[in-house]
Amino acid sequence: MLELRGIRKNFGKLAALNDVNLEFKENELIAIIGPNGAGKTTLINVITGVLKEDSGTIRYLHKEINVLPAYLRARLGINRTFQIPKPFSNLTVIENVRIGALFSNDKKGQTMEEEVERVLSLLRLKSLADKPAKELNTEQKKLVDLGRALVSRPKFLFMDEMGAGLAEEEILTLSNLIRGIQKDEGVSVVYVGHVMKLVKQLQCPIAVFSEGSPIFQGSYDEVTSNPAIIKLYLGERYAQS
Ligand SMILES: Nc1ncnc2c1ncn2[C@@H]1O[C@H](COP(=O)(O)OP(=O)(O)OP(=O)(O)O)[C@@H](O)[C@H]1O
Ligand SMILES: [Mg+2]
Repeated sequence: MLELRGIRKNFGKLAALNDVNLEFKENELIAIIGPNGAGKTTLINVITGVLKEDSGTIRYLHKEINVLPAYLRARLGINRTFQIPKPFSNLTVIENVRIGALFSNDKKGQTMEEEVERVLSLLRLKSLADKPAKELNTEQKKLVDLGRALVSRPKFLFMDEMGAGLAEEEILTLSNLIRGIQKDEGVSVVYVGHVMKLVKQLQCPIAVFSEGSPIFQGSYDEVTSNPAIIKLYLGERYAQS
């Protein structure tokens, strides 16, 4: 279990995270949605150690991990993808994915190369393995970033928005991939996103963030029929569904 208690993070006067209390259980899939600026990426940054919270505690495996730097949290099994992925542009796809193995949480398991190959196959990146990252499109960069995170064998994987700009069929493929990863990799996936069609396909509980804290948790149907959330975030197109 990964547990947040009273997490606050301010940027100047702005409370990006405002007394967040949340629990993430093992082997679950959960989506986080909410308006731009609600604090979703800041939440991931604080949990993974990219940003230091101003106050509050983060407990994982019965220990407070607030003091640990990001690379040690990754080695304990907490990893993430980036909203705007920035792979090393002169390194190839396979070289970028290998970097994740430096932060591996898996002490025995397969050799690094076997694991990298396995992840490349899983993400259908094999044909791109030797391509420099700078030649990839955004979607491919997102997959490389996911590959980098997966080879570290995370127990908690925070995914910051992957579905933007995808066609309907691609959304289905991506949601199946995310669901498959959660089931087959023994990982809890926390998917942050705006694309409601994708969130629907994930068929998982949803937490709604607003102004720095979770304001509602429920199923897709509960979220999309809640008048306050329609007003705040979803818009009137959800009002009748
Ligand atoms: N490094 C920073 N310095 C100053 N303000 C920041 C910084 N990072 C985020 N913020 C502010 O904190 C608030 C929360 O930002 P955050 O990126 O966490 O939102 P978000 O929910 O991920 O939004 P989006 O859906 O657009 O990705 C916003 O008002 C943002 O402008
Ligand atoms: Mg964000």
